[in-house]
Amino acid sequence: MKIIMLGAPGAGKGTQAKKIADKYQIPHISTGDIFRANIKNGTELGTKAKSYMDQGLLVPDELVVDLVADRVKQDDCTNGYVLDGFPRTIPQAEALDKALEGMGTKIDYAINVEVPDENIINRMSGRRACVGCGATYHIKYIPTKVEGICDVCGEKLILRDDDKPETVKKRLDVYHEQTQPLIDYYEKAAVLKEVDGTQDMEDVFKDIVNILGA
Ligand code: AP5
Ligand code: MG
Repeated sequence: MKIIMLGAPGAGKGTQAKKIADKYQIPHISTGDIFRANIKNGTELGTKAKSYMDQGLLVPDELVVDLVADRVKQDDCTNGYVLDGFPRTIPQAEALDKALEGMGTKIDYAINVEVPDENIINRMSGRRACVGCGATYHIKYIPTKVEGICDVCGEKLILRDDDKPETVKKRLDVYHEQTQPLIDYYEKAAVLKEVDGTQDMEDVFKDIVNILGA
């Protein structure tokens, strides 16, 4: 099962992708998480990516396309995967299709998690991410058992650098301009599925399971 998660920043792509990966036992591939791990480890890719991410801009296509094309060729991806945050532009989607075609396969589902802009800023300012395992929480909607500490691994939680309100507004503009056109792209490919992302996290997941099958 090869799945793409679509949706605005903060729509809940990462939250749902983790749940899908757990239930269906497939890898969760988040380009944002890959970049953040590179930033943390001080790699050259991380340094390049950070300059764009901090401004709320997309990292150039050439820095992300080969990375994902190589990742989906790895052995753990044979039974499928859930891509979170990729593709984000039409050229990225075309490059992915081409890479998959070369492997004799294709995307099965593009799940669009719909959340209006008004809800997004509120969600982002309350988001906390674990520095250790990358788990995400929300101070109001999805709190941890102990404040500031990850339920999964016990590391401390932080507010992401790009979750400041000014940067979130920029990310939303970039989303509407460069990523939203992918909804039409995958509709034309007859793999688009829409879910209402304003519902409670578990209800969003139920809708996704209805689409993917139990
Ligand atoms: P990335 O990390 O992908 O960020 P994003 O798309 O902006 O999305 P987010 O991770 O912010 O949101 P999400 O949809 O995963 O929501 P979450 O589940 O956390 O990318 C970061 C940056 O990297 C980009 O800006 C870009 O610069 C670069 N980049 C990455 N990929 C790239 C690519 N392919 N090309 C170019 N550049 C790229 O949920 C948000 C919050 O809401 C959380 O607090 C969560 O707990 C809460 N929440 C979730 N679901 C619910 C619910 N149902 N009800 C209430 N609260 C909820
Ligand atoms: Mg995410």
